[in-house]
Amino acid sequence: MDKAWIGDAQNRIREKLHKTAERSAHKVPYTTRNGVFDDWTDNISWWTNGFWGGILWQLYHATKEKLYRELAVELEEKLDRTLMDPEGMDHDSGFRWLLTSGAHFRETGNEEAYRRTLLAACNMAGRFNPAGNFIRAWNDWGNKEARGENAGIAIIDCMMNLPLLYWASEQTKDPRFYQIAARHADTVIRHFIREDGSVIHIGEFDPYTGEFLRSHGGQGCAHGSSWTRGQAWAIYGFVLSYLHTKREKYLECAERIADYFIANIPESGTIPVDFRQPAGCVWEDSTAAAIAACGMLEIAKAAGNGEESCYYQAARKLLFALYDKRCDWSPETDAIVQKCTAAYHDREHEFTIIYGDYFFIEAIWKLTGQELFLW
Ligand code: GLY
Repeated sequence: MDKAWIGDAQNRIREKLHKTAERSAHKVPYTTRNGVFDDWTDNISWWTNGFWGGILWQLYHATKEKLYRELAVELEEKLDRTLMDPEGMDHDSGFRWLLTSGAHFRETGNEEAYRRTLLAACNMAGRFNPAGNFIRAWNDWGNKEARGENAGIAIIDCMMNLPLLYWASEQTKDPRFYQIAARHADTVIRHFIREDGSVIHIGEFDPYTGEFLRSHGGQGCAHGSSWTRGQAWAIYGFVLSYLHTKREKYLECAERIADYFIANIPESGTIPVDFRQPAGCVWEDSTAAAIAACGMLEIAKAAGNGEESCYYQAARKLLFALYDKRCDWSPETDAIVQKCTAAYHDREHEFTIIYGDYFFIEAIWKLTGQELFLW
């Protein structure tokens, strides 16, 4: 396949996002309304609030333009309100702090950024339940009637946040963070991965005994279905666990889930919300394509056969489909990747979502060698 589109995608990202950044100062965006970023500053603990920071750091790394760094640091400082809010902290701390303060520390060595990232890691480690060897997902402490309802819940998304814990062990030389991350990954292997390589979204444990009780359908279309973003979090999450631990079983696991994902990619290369959604349903989730592509590119690199690898080829197919069919390159609108879906049963589908742009950019940066590796 001709590779010119990769350089073109890189240039268009740079051109478009320069304009987007200039007009989006002070925002913490999630989606767009009429092409314009919304602003979640007043709902600062939302799990996606680090991704715009991640985009800004990827752009800063590639261009060294001061604007990107300044906006990213402003967003990082806003997240301090969440660091001081136990109810706002959850299993998604990697998404929020690895891409903001973690990136800041990697790029400049800033000490305050280091402390923020380590605090987030300590909080995430505190969510570990040694009875079931899992990291608890959501809170319920703010609602007296519901307290304890989520105590036994773990979700596949958490795999993508484990690198925050690996980072903390690498920095502090304290192995506890690493041990917690690896035990959680082992639990996911045991209870979340099906025979065919697909994964469940939500697992429920008895939080006192650790017994695995049941799975739930979550953001996919039904119990027993195959929510594509969940498959993507698992692919990328397991290869990242491999990169940090060098345990072969994590790479094998990433490959198994990726093989299942690849076998289900439609001819068009665009990805549905759920691989098992009803035949007439055409809803897509471009975020799943971008995340899975990032994971597959890392598998190809780790397995050592680069561009020849079936994982590299599949990633390129997914990314080319996004570039060719799902990117809005207009300089007037703020987001790039179209047709993203948060959850199958939500009222709205197929809109822009900030992490669709983040992972698309990260994937293109991987292909062009400009990535600031943040995981
Ligand atoms: N982490 C939640 C989601 O992927 O929608």
